[in-house]
Amino acid sequence: MLYITRKEHFSASHILTNKKLTIKKNEKIFGKCNEYHGHNYYLEITVCGKLKKESGYVFDLKLLSKIIQDKIISKVDHKLLNEVDIFKNTIPTTENMAIIFWRILKPELDKYKIKLYSIKIYETEKNIVEYRG
Ligand code: NI
Repeated sequence: MLYITRKEHFSASHILTNKKLTIKKNEKIFGKCNEYHGHNYYLEITVCGKLKKESGYVFDLKLLSKIIQDKIISKVDHKLLNEVDIFKNTIPTTENMAIIFWRILKPELDKYKIKLYSIKIYETEKNIVEYRG
């Protein structure tokens, strides 16, 4: 099995807040993240499969990039994530983002019979979330 990764980038802002909790409790849980702020996110999408003899590829990375652009980046780049449809009723933490991106990409990649292996999001250089379904 071979694993190939496409890396993409987007910038977005968010506020971490749980509307069901009091202001005080939100401040306690989220600290500085309970204020509006932005991130330069990096997204790594890894798919896996067998080498195709005809092309020498596992999957066309240009196509993978296009799918990620169309289905994810175009929806979140330069957006306030709290107001983006796909995060409705969700706290836009990196964890929740990884899960939601998985739910969007999995059926798209299924169409091409390629297996989604992992979604890795770098919120900062030091804060990274990986989801494997
Ligand atoms: Ni943040």
